[in-house]
This record gives sequence, C-alpha cells and structure tokens, in this order.
Amino acid sequence: MSISGELFSEERSADVVARSFDGAPDPRLRRIMQSLVQHLHAFVKDVELTEAEWAQAIAFLTETGHRCDDVRQEFVLLSDVLGVSMLVETINHRAAGATESTVLGPFHVVESPRRELGDSVSLAGQGEPCLVTGRVTGPDGEPVGGAAVDVWQADDEGFYDVQRPGVIPEANLRGLFTAAADGTFWFRTVVPRHYPIPDDGPVGRLLRATGRHPYRPAHIHFIVAAEGYQPVTTHLFVAESPYLESDAVFGVKDSLVRQFPVVDDAERAAEVGLPNPFRTVHFEVRLRR
Ligand code: BEZ
Ligand code: FE
Repeated sequence: MSISGELFSEERSADVVARSFDGAPDPRLRRIMQSLVQHLHAFVKDVELTEAEWAQAIAFLTETGHRCDDVRQEFVLLSDVLGVSMLVETINHRAAGATESTVLGPFHVVESPRRELGDSVSLAGQGEPCLVTGRVTGPDGEPVGGAAVDVWQADDEGFYDVQRPGVIPEANLRGLFTAAADGTFWFRTVVPRHYPIPDDGPVGRLLRATGRHPYRPAHIHFIVAAEGYQPVTTHLFVAESPYLESDAVFGVKDSLVRQFPVVDDAERAAEVGLPNPFRTVHFEVRLRR
C-alpha cells in the first residue's frame, strides 16, 4: 500500500511542511505560516544548522522568554537588534511627507505626567539646559491645535528615571503636553546622552558574541497624537551624538537628526526660564490624516 501525499525529504521539506497549512481557515495566517516555513527552511539549509546550534538556539530563545516580565521585554529587544522592529515600523508607517516614525523602545513604561507648555521636565536639575520648541501640523500644513505631545528621554548620563529608582526622581524627563491652538509646543529639558540598551540578558550576550556594541545615539522620544490624524511615534536625534551611524536598534532616520545650537542671550534665557547659555532644538511634526 502506498501513502498518498508527499513525505518529508531534505530537498522538498519546505513545500511539504508549507502544504500542511493549506487548510488554515484564516487566509492571512495561512500566508504567514507558509512564508515563515519557506524562509526558515531556506535558512537552515543555507547554514546547514548543526544539532548543537539548533539546541543552542532553543536555549537562547528559552532564556529570552525567561527574561520577560511586566517591565522587561527581551523578545522585543531581540527584534530591535535584528532590525525587525524598525522594518515593521517603517512598512506600516510609510511617511510620504509626514514626520517619519521610529521605534517605541522599552522606556515608555510609565504614563507621562501632564505638564503645561513651558514647564521643565527636568526634575533632577542636572545636565545642559535645553529649550525644545515645535509645531504640529497636518498634511496641508494646517496647525493641529490641542495635539497631545508625549515626551520622554534619558538624562545627561544616559539613564531613564525607571533605571535608577530612588536615585533619579520619578517621572524625571517625562511630560505630556497639549499643543497651543496654533499647533505650537515648547518645554524645558536637558540635552540627553547616548546610552546602552539593556545588555545584561541574552540579547546583550548576542551583541558581545558578535562584536556589536549596545549603544543608541542621544535622542528625545515623542508620541504626537490628535483626533482625526494618525499618531506618530518618533525621536529627535542629537546631531553631535556618537553612534548615529551605528544605532544598536537601527532607529536613526536622516530626517530626525537635529542640531541643538547654543543660545547665548541672557534676556532670552530669562524669558524662557533657563540659565544662560542654553541649547535649543525645533521640531516641526507633520501628521497624516
Ligand atoms: C529606547 O530608545 O528607549 C530604546 C529602543 C529600543 C531598545 C532599547 C531602548
Ligand atoms: Fe530611548
């Protein structure tokens, strides 16, 4: 008696396994699983994966799972360092004239406190003072008054508040602002520093084993949202920062890099409530409808 249907072979493995999903009722799930199988099998054949390497990969993924909890997501970090997070982000937010997006990252874990325009988000009082100004517009350049502008950033030593509880005040360098009627927003902060992504887990080990560094260039995170528009999750990068060309998570886009020029003007400093001299940066945010 012969068995109907094709049996597994090295040569035909991908097609044989892909076909096992032919009956998946959800066509999208079918497409994803069949494509995944094709690419996975091609990869295993390409590198001729050994059994020891396969076991090591399983152990690596197991440990990656064990390092995940409410505040730590090692799988997302793995996706970040493999460039998958940025690829998914970019495919799903093709900007076409709007502000480009980039990774969310793991440090938006607490809700940003509501703050008034002009407030300082720097509660620790250390670092180079900086005035951030900006304007939110729509696709035709129309001002988007009342837009929510959520910001968070690392300090002048490269730490987020949540990384040094008890040392850095809670909600340091975080704020949720509401843009004025003409779409403008402004707040006081300090210039952030570059920093390493969390590298004390399996992803960090992977970076070290492959000779990669864990650093991200200095940046300020933004989520800008308004009714009737698509929200954008993005950063402003500091043009003078190291690692702009080798961000560990591939988040840098040219359009998001800004100079932070020094302003030496005692009158202006007094007006905005900063010591003189201070740094400045401006961000025109264009949302899609
Ligand atoms: C961040 O910018 O906060 C970040 C993004 C991806 C991985 C780690 C940190
Ligand atoms: Fe960050």
